[in-house]
Amino acid sequence: MDIIKDRPIGVFDSGIGGLTVLEKLYEACPHEHYIYFADTKNLPYGEKTKDELIFAVQKIFDFYASQDVKAVVMACNTSSALVYEELKEDYDFKIYPIIQITAECVADMGLKRVGVLATTATVESHAYLKALVEYDRHMLIKENACPLWVSMVENRKEDYEDEDEDAIMLDYLEPVLDFRPEKIILGCTHYPHLMNKIKRYARKSLFINPAECFSEYIKKDLEQAGLRKTYGVLRTDFYVSSDPENFKKNASVFIKMKDLPELLEL
Ligand code: DGL
Repeated sequence: MDIIKDRPIGVFDSGIGGLTVLEKLYEACPHEHYIYFADTKNLPYGEKTKDELIFAVQKIFDFYASQDVKAVVMACNTSSALVYEELKEDYDFKIYPIIQITAECVADMGLKRVGVLATTATVESHAYLKALVEYDRHMLIKENACPLWVSMVENRKEDYEDEDEDAIMLDYLEPVLDFRPEKIILGCTHYPHLMNKIKRYARKSLFINPAECFSEYIKKDLEQAGLRKTYGVLRTDFYVSSDPENFKKNASVFIKMKDLPELLEL
């Protein structure tokens, strides 16, 4: 008999950003079978148009449907901002969008001034702003795009000259720090990978890594739906849409990866 709770959970992002979510899911839901898809061929999502993103994410959702998943975790803010509303009714599995769920968690914190750092596409969509003011229309929000941070993470640009790196970090951080927020949401799943650099410019406790509340929400929601698996060993199958070797090299900095991810040209 097919037990729905035994089915896998899809987790996807454009690259290694979603690993910041996967890592927290391992803690919150340690018995699940995850299928992680990195759409490396289409990276960076933050510079794509809405139509391009819908086209790309539809193929990922179709792949997950073929894998009979019980849920898909959008471990990518940009696609949550631009694609979730368009596709949310089209599939039988549960879909967890990171922005909408993070906004619900942040609303519970009773903050009045919030900064958001995100990709160009996320900032231009104002998805965080719109989602947050739904909960509190008096909340003041300052969003800023950090277009170079994704490539800093993906290409592990340790070779930036110190001055270049200072300029890149400060260009993006300063406008939000000047706004004097109580908290700053790292609104792209790649950014928590940069925490060691970010904390040179502002205290770590100022930043919210959405992966934490997002994974706790998913745990509770799966539980309530009778879909949380509480037995068996954790398993993850990795897929990429290009360059498996490069993904493995980059991902291995953050998680243990034994095998090469499978190449899946959707
Ligand atoms: N990590 C993704 C996000 O949270 C996408 C970054 C990108 O590919 O530009 O938005």
